[in-house]
Amino acid sequence: MRKTLLVIVAVLVLGGLAVLSGAFRGNHIAVAAFEPLSAEEMAVLAPRGRELAFSGDCLGCHSPMQGPIAVGGVPFDTPFGTLYSPNITPDPTYGIGEYTRADFHRVLRDGIARGGHNLYPAMPFVFTQITTDDDIDAIYAYMMSLEPIAQDVPANTGVFAFPLRPFMNFWTLLNFPRRTAPEDPDRPEAWNRGAYLVEGLGHCGACHTPMNFMMGTDFARALEGAVIEGLEAPSLQATALAAHGFDVPGLTEFLASGIGPQGTTFGGMYTVTHFSTGSMQRDDLTAIATYLLTLPDGTLPEPSPPPAPLPEATDPALGVTAGEALYLSACASCHGDTGAGIPDVAPAMRGNATLALENPLNLLTVMLNGIPTEEFPRGKRMYAMPPFAHVLSDADIARLATWLRAQWGGIADPVQEAAVTEIPRTRN
Ligand code: HEC
Ligand code: HEC
Ligand code: HEC
Repeated sequence: MRKTLLVIVAVLVLGGLAVLSGAFRGNHIAVAAFEPLSAEEMAVLAPRGRELAFSGDCLGCHSPMQGPIAVGGVPFDTPFGTLYSPNITPDPTYGIGEYTRADFHRVLRDGIARGGHNLYPAMPFVFTQITTDDDIDAIYAYMMSLEPIAQDVPANTGVFAFPLRPFMNFWTLLNFPRRTAPEDPDRPEAWNRGAYLVEGLGHCGACHTPMNFMMGTDFARALEGAVIEGLEAPSLQATALAAHGFDVPGLTEFLASGIGPQGTTFGGMYTVTHFSTGSMQRDDLTAIATYLLTLPDGTLPEPSPPPAPLPEATDPALGVTAGEALYLSACASCHGDTGAGIPDVAPAMRGNATLALENPLNLLTVMLNGIPTEEFPRGKRMYAMPPFAHVLSDADIARLATWLRAQWGGIADPVQEAAVTEIPRTRN
């Protein structure tokens, strides 16, 4: 009995050590990638690599909002501490100047950096693994063509300051399924291209797919919507998008410009439109829209018109007429008396997808904390959305939100004051 126990413990310990040492780590680099690319090949590949780097939002996560691109230092706040993205300019000391072609493939395929250490999944290798060899080569060529910048990034804090990388081998064993790009020869080329981009470089699921308790992507619930960094990244399933009025041209334009009848992008989605989709080729954006909007039976859903005002919006017993009065005094100067918005000032409230989300999280967060001034592609700008946390009481915010949802969001469910009080205040 004791002996069996000892054997079991020994096997577990040895197994654990084997995992820790990386014995089960995958290596999915093409043999050809061990041959260096010639300078001519690199020069030819770089322009396409630039396009692909936009699709992969490489610059969004590796560039500060202001300053030179790819120098890293962008903070990723987690409940366990802050992780900073590394400098990926070709500087030999602070950047990836020493990276060979194979080293680079390993990052995107297996999540393993030069020197063999595991990367944390804030680098979306769980998605980029499906990228083709040719495309990884092109991105490599582009990154190596950037100006090297000798600039260090801040040190990680919290648990990320400890030597925990070997433990990521346990995480990857459980949370890093090998995937391939969805392919269907019976579907249009745009659908197949969109599938490759959404499920791979575009890593839309990094925010729009729920995570499990280990913070791994729950692929069984792909693109169902999730809360990330205090905001809901809504469902990207075809029926949900069509219910918010998106069709293929509309969604393409929303991704290209960050602005549409559904509103403007903000939070993490602003970063995506600013650094990634706003610079992508139109064909690729149409492909993404086509893939997302295609129903399982291969057809495209009809987009819904903006919801009609509900009877609740005019019910004095619910106190919502007070909500309307608040709207007219605090919001209408920018969003319009009839909610139609004002071009180059503020987006429409009528048809705005933020009002039509079942969960009031995004609506309340924006009302309380506002949105800092954003610059949209092609030089478009609007006013900043001011924070109202210190202007309106939580009870008034709840009344106003209830009215906005009934009037323009098609949602009768009232917003409770307690839901407002729970939202963290980030701007004073
Ligand atoms: C969602 C944010 C995000 C995106 C998008 C992203 N990265 Fe990263 N990347 C990170 C973070 C964070 C790390 C550091 C992870 C760590 O410390 O374990 C990282 C690490 C890396 C490294 C390892 C550098 C080193 O320290 O040796 C390389 C190379 C890299 N990324 C390249 C890319 C490329 C190329 C793309 C585009 C295809 C990309 N990244 C997209 C966040 C991102
Ligand atoms: C000074 C003008 C201004 C006022 C006043 C204002 N907003 Fe905004 N609001 C904006 C702008 C501009 C944006 C878009 C900001 C961006 O994304 O860059 C915005 C965005 C929003 C959004 C997010 C949806 C989207 O499409 O971006 C909501 C919800 C919203 N406002 C509600 C309100 C409510 C409710 C009030 C009144 C309490 C209000 N706003 C008052 C200018 C204003
Ligand atoms: C960094 C996290 C993040 C990533 C990555 C991301 N999104 Fe989002 N997305 C959000 C958040 C948060 C919102 C809600 C705020 C808003 O509407 O701008 C959102 C909203 C949206 C909306 C509006 C949906 C609706 O019905 O209102 C669309 C469409 C969208 N994202 C598409 C995409 C696509 C396509 C990709 C991949 C190319 C992507 N997103 C990648 C965070 C993200």
